[in-house]
Amino acid sequence: MTAFSSARQVHIPLGTRSYDIAIGAGLLDDPASFGAARAGAQALIVTNTTIEPLYAERLARALAPRHSQVRLLALPDGEQHKTWASLNLIFDQLLADAADRKTTLYALGGGVVGDMAGFAAACYMRGVPFVQVPTTLLAQVDSSVGGKTAINHPLGKNMIGAFYQPLAVLCDLDVLKTLPARELSAGLAEVIKYGPIADMAFLDWIESHLDALRACDQAALAHAVERSCQIKADVVAQDEQESNLRAILNFGHTFGHAIEAGMGYGAWLHGEGVGAGMVMAAELSRELGLVDAAFVQRLSRLIERAGLSTRGAVLDMHDNAGRYLELMRVDKKAEAGEIRFVVIDGPGRAAVRPAPDALVRQVIDRCCAGLCN
Ligand code: NAD
Ligand code: GLY
Repeated sequence: MTAFSSARQVHIPLGTRSYDIAIGAGLLDDPASFGAARAGAQALIVTNTTIEPLYAERLARALAPRHSQVRLLALPDGEQHKTWASLNLIFDQLLADAADRKTTLYALGGGVVGDMAGFAAACYMRGVPFVQVPTTLLAQVDSSVGGKTAINHPLGKNMIGAFYQPLAVLCDLDVLKTLPARELSAGLAEVIKYGPIADMAFLDWIESHLDALRACDQAALAHAVERSCQIKADVVAQDEQESNLRAILNFGHTFGHAIEAGMGYGAWLHGEGVGAGMVMAAELSRELGLVDAAFVQRLSRLIERAGLSTRGAVLDMHDNAGRYLELMRVDKKAEAGEIRFVVIDGPGRAAVRPAPDALVRQVIDRCCAGLCN
């Protein structure tokens, strides 16, 4: 079934779990946007206290014709609240509302809300339908697509979660107009990511449209969201549960997750960690002889132009590289305590492989001293 008619669409082909991503302006207010959701049943909009006053009422109005009852839950805002405690607030609300198995959850927010609402949907009564309504660039190009849901643990990022696909994803580009510039930059990190791992022509396009993207130009955003979702759809369709290929989407994330956890969740935005992490992963690729220095410089320059740091955070004054290694051993790609990195295996191609600790230490030391750009 095609869920949307008046927007760009990207299809995620996953058999019975297939769905569409709609990308366009004015989708949030249009009841027709929600054709993939089951009509008649209860709905719960899960959002946060920042997004609620901006968009929750508009979404509730658009959903009213489809659902017998539309409830709202606003969680505390921030990565530091991506926890069991917040997840429990969703279960508390569902149970207090006597929500049944046909209740649909709508995740209205960035990646934090989307990951938590999706995880709650996967668990409540062993699974209820959910729809992603991403409101950050990062969520529109990445986190709302592909069915990864999770909460953080103090010892590791996104370590508790499930694969659980939404019924549909609705990317309304208009909502990006209220996104703070810092958050837009963080989202650009995930857009840039798709170039080196899969599509150098897209990297060229990002380079020439970066100013337009930072100025929230609708046509540029529409293309960036569409192309990013197409690349992600292609990867997820081949490897939904990350047995292998899907790990390439984590380019920069092994270092980036260490920065997020090591600095304390929320101090560095996820996209900021990914930005600096991509520079570190590119430098590691260069050390391994897979790309040249010009490639690292090109990527670093683009990340800088996106408004992001290219320098890694110092996590420990005494043994910074040691602290990174300790945190990276908790990464989901690690096997038997051996860290595996997403490296660039030639322009537009990524691979996952281990690297000697001594080499990784050198890369961390150099990149945290600002010598990798
Ligand atoms: P976020 O969800 O914290 O949102 C960023 C900030 O912007 C928040 O303060 C939010 O309230 C605010 N905001 C959101 N939309 C807004 C709008 N339209 N106008 C004004 N303010 C708005 O952060 P994020 O960058 O969207 O997501 C990061 C999270 O996504 C991390 O937890 C990361 O682990 C996760 N993630 C998941 C996947 C996945 O595949 N599931 C992929 C990438 C990232
Ligand atoms: N963001 C990485 C993934 O979805 O696999």
